[in-house]
Amino acid sequence: AARGTKPEPGDRLAFMVGERKDQEIKPADLVVGAVPTLAYPLDPASGKVLVSRVGLLTVVRLKPEALKPASAKNAADGIVAFSAVCTHYGCPITTLHPSQSQIVCNCHGSVFDAADRGAVTQGPATRRLAMLPLAIQDGALVVAAKFDGPLGPPT
Ligand code: FES
Repeated sequence: AARGTKPEPGDRLAFMVGERKDQEIKPADLVVGAVPTLAYPLDPASGKVLVSRVGLLTVVRLKPEALKPASAKNAADGIVAFSAVCTHYGCPITTLHPSQSQIVCNCHGSVFDAADRGAVTQGPATRRLAMLPLAIQDGALVVAAKFDGPLGPPT
């Protein structure tokens, strides 16, 4: 059966933009305190980057000790990934909060706690971001499971 464009277990991640657009993201590319990296799933079977709104991800690395259990179980070496589609009106989540453990939507200022499974810490968004479980296998960053919640704004 043909797969969809949402990330699936075993997928790698690819840069959405920048000099290394469409290239695989390695764990060492992600550093604590850096701005969130926007990414799409990379299908290892076809080698294709799966470009879609529902598959857009925002990826950050936190200090492992900053992670609460709900995020820690889905993290790989402190790296956590979420749907990048804001649950308020759908803008991409692109900014790191000064706390370095929360991420911010610049459209209307919603803040989500990357250390606590994407929980809303400041509105107007009312629903957490879906988290995408990650793992490191043979040194590669891989998707460990599907999104753990609904995507985008409530309908
Ligand atoms: Fe993100 Fe409104 S779309 S805060």
